[in-house]
Amino acid sequence: MEAGVKADIPELDAECGGACACGTCHVYVEEAFLDKVGFAGEAEQQMLDYAESPVQENSRLSCQIVVQDELDGMTVRTPAAR
Ligand code: FES
Repeated sequence: MEAGVKADIPELDAECGGACACGTCHVYVEEAFLDKVGFAGEAEQQMLDYAESPVQENSRLSCQIVVQDELDGMTVRTPAAR
């Protein structure tokens, strides 16, 4: 989320600043990296329920993804612009 905000990605509002309290940092994780990035936990899943965009199996709140070496090369897609 922080990288996306710094890059001025317009679909990443990140209104709560990464507190898992707004759902405006919703992204879709590239299929090949799902095992490495993991799935949304309970609190994150509840927040995804309020996301404006459709939730898919590969949905994550980007503020909850911990960047680490094994995610090098991962691509995420943002939902369609609102
Ligand atoms: S920035 Fe608000 S939930 Fe991620």
